[in-house]
Amino acid sequence: MPTVFLNGEFLPLEQARVSVMDRGFLFGDGVYEVIPVYDRQPFRQAEHLSRLQHSLDGIRLSNPHSDAEWATLISRIVAQAEWPDLGVYLQITRGTGPRDHAFPQTAQPTVFILPMPLTPPTAAAIEQGVSAITAPDIRWQRCDLKVTALLPNVLLRQQSIDAGCAETLLLRDGLLLEGSASSAFIVLDGVLLAPPKSHLILPGITYDVVLELAAMTGMAYRIRAITEAELRAAEEIWIASSTKEVLAVTRLDGQPVGGGQPGPLFRRMHADYQVFKQRVMRRGEAR
Ligand code: PDD
Repeated sequence: MPTVFLNGEFLPLEQARVSVMDRGFLFGDGVYEVIPVYDRQPFRQAEHLSRLQHSLDGIRLSNPHSDAEWATLISRIVAQAEWPDLGVYLQITRGTGPRDHAFPQTAQPTVFILPMPLTPPTAAAIEQGVSAITAPDIRWQRCDLKVTALLPNVLLRQQSIDAGCAETLLLRDGLLLEGSASSAFIVLDGVLLAPPKSHLILPGITYDVVLELAAMTGMAYRIRAITEAELRAAEEIWIASSTKEVLAVTRLDGQPVGGGQPGPLFRRMHADYQVFKQRVMRRGEAR
């Protein structure tokens, strides 16, 4: 049983309990982060903590810990985890109170840290790519906040599972935004295209890594709106997240993407991503 952190205490997962009056349970009134850890070294922790602050600000909840305190808590969870590669899940809710939509006057936030095994994409997923479907984006207007109220994402992701696919790509007003739990990119005319960050997209940490790697390695890229027609005409489609890294989508809504195989830019990016990760792990940097 993994050791988790709950409200100031480290304890075995099976002993961790929260009240049924917790606003996370009643309203989904909370935020979260998932930080990938390779060989017990957190990857881009500072960026994840800064996005956590953005999410907390967005729901008007003050941060219960400084970044230094978070770093200490995370390092203790990582040190005690049974796996060297893991995802560290952080969740903060607005705490317990009478069931009233309005904020409680005096609630203490609930703070939870859970280590989760990180399973890298299979060799088959990397070599052959994955399938995806598209669906209208039914989420709210603040998708830039990483909130625990994930019901639309849950339903959208299940739609792809029911179709035997790995991800659902979300379209709003004729534009590609992202996946139900990943950032999305396409390659068109040999140029990597990334949808611009906005209130309708989660600012992905892996999205930033991908674009930094593109810049570092001289891969042509542009950040601009991507239409549904461009998505359907794309030579390559990629999805990216802290848990999936970068994957090629080789079938979209049952149709092959490009040649139906991961394309040349994906292969380059995937190789560069692995080298970058190895370098980070060797140096013991959190970058
Ligand atoms: N999800 N967009 C959405 C809607 C996401 O849920 C995620 C990640 C991403 C990619 O963000 P990042 O590169 O920072 O992981 C984009 C996480 C992994 C999750 O909910 O479990």
